Amino acid sequence: MSMRISVIHGPNLNLLGARQPEFYGSDSLDEVNRRIKRRGEELGLDVRILWSNHEGEIIDAIHDAREWADAIIINPGALTHYSYSVRDALTAVRLPAIEVHLSNIHAREEFRRHSVVSPVVIGQIVGLGSLGYLLALEAIQRIVDASHT
Ligand code: DQA
Repeated sequence: MSMRISVIHGPNLNLLGARQPEFYGSDSLDEVNRRIKRRGEELGLDVRILWSNHEGEIIDAIHDAREWADAIIINPGALTHYSYSVRDALTAVRLPAIEVHLSNIHAREEFRRHSVVSPVVIGQIVGLGSLGYLLALEAIQRIVDASHT
């Protein structure tokens, strides 16, 4: 059976392409998701993608991943910086997770430099645009594979 990866996009990421392209690039979320799907297929992964503007739905998606997924890739948007609920959900499901940010959050406003999620994920990929999601797929596959050997 293929390894199953849940990719979760948080608030405002539906505006990709239109929203501050200097930080987030000019591709729409659909384009980014197509790329994620394509890379997932190349790697032989079963990838499900969810986007929501609502914290509770992000938390539900993390809980659902517990039933379905082997690992999570998440860009929590601004929830990254303050949502202890998203952090607690990630802690509770005990799945390996990678945090992705399109922009380099460490090179922007002060409030973006801190992630409340980082301590409960394996690692963080920032500043590489949509490539970050593709690298996260490869990384999580290797990490999960290594944990089975
Ligand atoms: C973001 C960075 C966050 O600070 C911001 O609130 C976002 C997007 C990123 O992908 O760079 O919505 O997570």
